[in-house]
Amino acid sequence: MTSTPTSYRTAQIILHWAVFAAIWVQWLFNEPMKRTIEAIQTGATPVDGDMTMALVHVGFGSTILLAVLARLYLRYRYGAPGHAPGTSPMQAKIATTFHWSLYGVLIAMVVTGGMTWNGVADLGYVHWLLNIVLFALITAHALAAIFNQFVRKDGTLARMIPALKK
Ligand code: HEM
Ligand code: HEM
Repeated sequence: MTSTPTSYRTAQIILHWAVFAAIWVQWLFNEPMKRTIEAIQTGATPVDGDMTMALVHVGFGSTILLAVLARLYLRYRYGAPGHAPGTSPMQAKIATTFHWSLYGVLIAMVVTGGMTWNGVADLGYVHWLLNIVLFALITAHALAAIFNQFVRKDGTLARMIPALKK
């Protein structure tokens, strides 16, 4: 790893928002996946349109995994900026824990989804539970970024949205 950078690289920013968009696809289009897996597990034939959307779920989920791995590589290779000036050690610890938890939960979601889809083990319930944790983490993470940017005015959000930089 090189010395601590002062900002995220463009690739890190693009991947951050690409994962955000892909997660929305997973959230908005998971009903056909649920119907498809239920049909497969009960020996019925999945409806064509449902199967197509289930494959979209698998495709976007796998893309999320690739994007997360790319982000971890970029982080390892180039590092990430330290916390914004004025961040207390406690806040810094919480933010770091959230960031690693986000990476971990995303990987766990792909693993549990993949195992369920491939019939290795029925982890649909764990996948659902992890999704709730993911939603809570993302909400808290986004609210913290917005609060820091607009109330504490420490430029946190501008790190991921360079257009906000003064
Ligand atoms: C899918 C949802 C999201 C995921 C999985 C996610 C994940 C992450 C992760 C893992 C990092 C740390 C990057 C690193 O250092 O390697 C990060 C940073 C950041 N994210 Fe997100 N994020 C999401 C959504 C959002 C949203 C909606 C916002 C803003 C409203 C946001 C704003 C930021 C900011 C400002 C940083 C930089 C924080 C800093 O440098 O202290 N993120 N995000
Ligand atoms: C981070 C990526 C992913 C997210 C955010 C996500 C999100 C979701 C959500 C919200 C559900 C509905 C849960 C429910 O209400 O029961 C779901 C179901 C499902 N997902 Fe994913 N998913 C992801 C990746 C994957 C991948 C990569 C696969 C397969 C390779 C997959 C396979 C499944 C299966 C089989 C179900 C149905 C589970 C059941 O009903 O028992 N998911 N996913």
